[in-house]
Amino acid sequence: MTILVVGASGATGKNLVEQLLKMGQEVKVIVRPSGKIPDSWIHEDKVAIIKANINETGVDEMAGYIKDCQAIASCLGHNMSWRGIYGKPRRLVTDAVRLLCDAIKKNPPETPVKFLLMNTAGNRNRDLNEPISFGEKLVIGLLRLLLPPHPDNEAAADYLRVNIGQNDSLIEWTVVRPDTLTNEDEVTEYKAHVSPSRSAIFNPGKTSRINVGNFMAKLITEDALWNKWRWKMPVIYNVEYQEEKR
Ligand SMILES: NC(=O)c1ccc[n+]([C@@H]2O[C@H](COP(=O)([O-])OP(=O)(O)OC[C@H]3O[C@@H](n4cnc5c(N)ncnc54)[C@H](OP(=O)(O)O)[C@@H]3O)[C@@H](O)[C@H]2O)c1
Repeated sequence: MTILVVGASGATGKNLVEQLLKMGQEVKVIVRPSGKIPDSWIHEDKVAIIKANINETGVDEMAGYIKDCQAIASCLGHNMSWRGIYGKPRRLVTDAVRLLCDAIKKNPPETPVKFLLMNTAGNRNRDLNEPISFGEKLVIGLLRLLLPPHPDNEAAADYLRVNIGQNDSLIEWTVVRPDTLTNEDEVTEYKAHVSPSRSAIFNPGKTSRINVGNFMAKLITEDALWNKWRWKMPVIYNVEYQEEKR
């Protein structure tokens, strides 16, 4: 299988690529010319590196990059700097999701492409009843106003959920929602939930980036897992306490 990863130079994207390589997959990465990637990828036959700015890439050019890909994963996110948060492109993730979906439609695949979007436990799945308290509503309202990456994450997930939906013959999708991201060296036990089991605002859980990478890689390579989570927005947490394992 060949998988395109965008946001591959990021902290989670790198983990996803490494997990896919461990599973024997072929990976294409699109990274900015300034993006830093591990030296090992340069010498790795199973990694194809495309240097391009995704927000300056046209749909025909993208269609050329993805024509042999059976899955596409986005780990894009705004850099946590003033420019990354408040500068352009304000809709980095949403625009990339739309571009990639349009590019898939340019060369219709025989079987649907799996599309995986890394998102956040701070976003709700509006296909389900995911109630939040008045306090959470207030904080999320403020985040929408003051932190442009948050509405971008919401709009990107909504593009798949609403615009692509569950009846598209070319694209199947899942939106992976980790909680507070941490860095670990090894994959540890983690659990995927249909909806958040705790408040992302007032009682956040932890999700290591390597576990996000492992879960996304398994979704791509294991059809039973894919069939369980396609068209859903799994929330994943590291298993930290004995009682959570039950
Ligand atoms: N922080 C948290 O606790 C948390 C929790 C849940 C979800 N999330 C979400 O998780 C996602 C990824 O997190 P992360 O820590 O892995 O992110 P990260 O390390 O900052 O990686 C972001 C990726 O996006 C790319 N990118 C940023 N701006 C770009 C632009 N203008 N054009 C093209 N590429 C661009 C970066 O490329 P360069 O390497 O070239 O900069 C990098 O590959 C984010 O969407 C975030 O909202 C975060």
